[in-house]
Amino acid sequence: MIEVQNLQKIYNVKRRQSFFKSYKESIEAVKDISMKIEAGQIVGLLGINGAGKTTTIKMLTTLIEPTSGTYSFDGINAIENPSFVKNKINMIAGGERMIYWRLTAYENLWYYGQLYGIDNNTLKNRIESLLQMVGLEDKANLPVETFSKGMKQRLQIARGMINDPKYIFLDEPTIGLDAVVTKELHDEIRKLSKVREKGILLTSHYLAEVEELCDYIYLVNKGELVVEGTKKDLTEYVYNRKQYCFSVQGMDENIIMRLHNYLISLDIDVEIVQQDDRAIITSKFELSSALAQFAIKENLIIKELYEIEPSLEQAVIKLSQQICREAESIA
Ligand SMILES: Nc1ncnc2c1ncn2[C@@H]1O[C@H](COP(=O)(O)OP(=O)(O)O)[C@@H](O)[C@H]1O
Ligand SMILES: [Mg+2]
Repeated sequence: MIEVQNLQKIYNVKRRQSFFKSYKESIEAVKDISMKIEAGQIVGLLGINGAGKTTTIKMLTTLIEPTSGTYSFDGINAIENPSFVKNKINMIAGGERMIYWRLTAYENLWYYGQLYGIDNNTLKNRIESLLQMVGLEDKANLPVETFSKGMKQRLQIARGMINDPKYIFLDEPTIGLDAVVTKELHDEIRKLSKVREKGILLTSHYLAEVEELCDYIYLVNKGELVVEGTKKDLTEYVYNRKQYCFSVQGMDENIIMRLHNYLISLDIDVEIVQQDDRAIITSKFELSSALAQFAIKENLIIKELYEIEPSLEQAVIKLSQQICREAESIA
């Protein structure tokens, strides 16, 4: 498990005011971030541009040192043991960064493998199995410049696996990728976590991406965690309510009215909207059993009864509006 505690990063920058004068400025890119990433889990760090996502990933991959805070990989302090960490992690970039066009797929992987000091025999076998894993075994000896975007992306995945990492980081992996390659990459990311048990931390400002892939989400804003949880937790945090879809045979306004009265008689506050032959019911309460009981009492045949998974997109929009309002009320 990766455990991150109260990570903070202040960048000290020198700004030039005029030809002769410059002044120092401190930018607190990450204020206070704590998180956990377990093997087999895809964790999302979600936030708008400038939220501090890249800075967080740079600290976790030991590219930059935190100003304060700690993080450990499988119980080993990462700041004191950077070389231990480097062997446990890798990054997968989206698109065409970090691969050499003139080199073949095999040569690219050989180059990166050498950087990790992997012995020649192990490396040879590993490259073969990785090329097979990403379906490039026939293309091993072709220069990357002849590859399609999708093939380059698959090579990126092989490159990110060259040191057999336990944890993989992806910083905005699908920026600039078309829909087809994005979908391929999403499928590969899912496989890395669910089949190969990798712990994955993925940053994104695309809600849909995080919503689709991540088992657990940290929403960050201005270097701080706003809320964390599963997609469902986050939405409930925002709405503090549940939504059900309920439909019975012969559903009409009359039944909806009786349903409304029944729930009110149970002291359950609800809002019901009719959509064709369905009732969309919103409430703070858990309603599954009350709705089933209503159907039994009224001798109605249930066609549909389920809790609607709220959309994270709506949740995040609402959250950022809340944050803006809070900021305004302080100002
Ligand atoms: N090397 C740097 N020097 C100074 N400021 C930086 C540097 N990198 C990022 N920042 C600032 O830190 C904040 C967070 O940036 P970043 O971590 O890149 O956010 P994100 O990846 O979520 O868009 C921004 O205000 C950005 O301008
Ligand atoms: Mg970034």
